[in-house]
Amino acid sequence: ALAARATARAATSLEELREALAAFDGCALKATAKNLVFADGTPGARVMLVGEAPGREEDIQGKPFVGRSGQLLDRMLAAIGLDRSSVYIANIVPWRPPGNRTPTPQEAAICRPFIERQIELCDPDVLVCLGGPSAQALLGVREGILRTRGKWFDYDTGRRTIRALATLHPAYLLRQPAQKRLAWRDLRALRKVLDEIGVALRS
Ligand code: URA
Repeated sequence: ALAARATARAATSLEELREALAAFDGCALKATAKNLVFADGTPGARVMLVGEAPGREEDIQGKPFVGRSGQLLDRMLAAIGLDRSSVYIANIVPWRPPGNRTPTPQEAAICRPFIERQIELCDPDVLVCLGGPSAQALLGVREGILRTRGKWFDYDTGRRTIRALATLHPAYLLRQPAQKRLAWRDLRALRKVLDEIGVALRS
């Protein structure tokens, strides 16, 4: 984990961080994954979303949220006037866990310095954690997502504090569509903050 932190810190741009991750051999998930899934969207966007880990389609394409969850995520963004170009998207773990299992706490811990550095280098004004593992890894919460969703946290990079919202993961919403009303409530709260800080609607 020390090597991961030193490696992540040494990267001074998102492109360098991607290269550092591509060369990093400290996480066993890399051996079974087809591709590194680093990010999508716009580096430096004011809104950054962080999911859990790549799935099958993401692993094949090397891009986050391009499968069914990604299609729902696009609809969630559209509901509040955002699209891929107005956000930056990454995951707490950048390689697909075999069979799409949840990353182990150890895997998440090994990769955490990289996602922390990715957040620092993107430097968004608002961070959105999609699902429990993301909220637990980044916000230090121990409770489940159904208790933390809709709540705002302060995410501290060490240099600045970023407002952070936890919400439900689109993959969960695909399994539990009745919970979408909770997610949409969170999206409205997000939109309100974006309006306050002047993040424009897309047409
Ligand atoms: N689920 C995630 O958490 N991340 C992805 O990139 C795709 C699905």
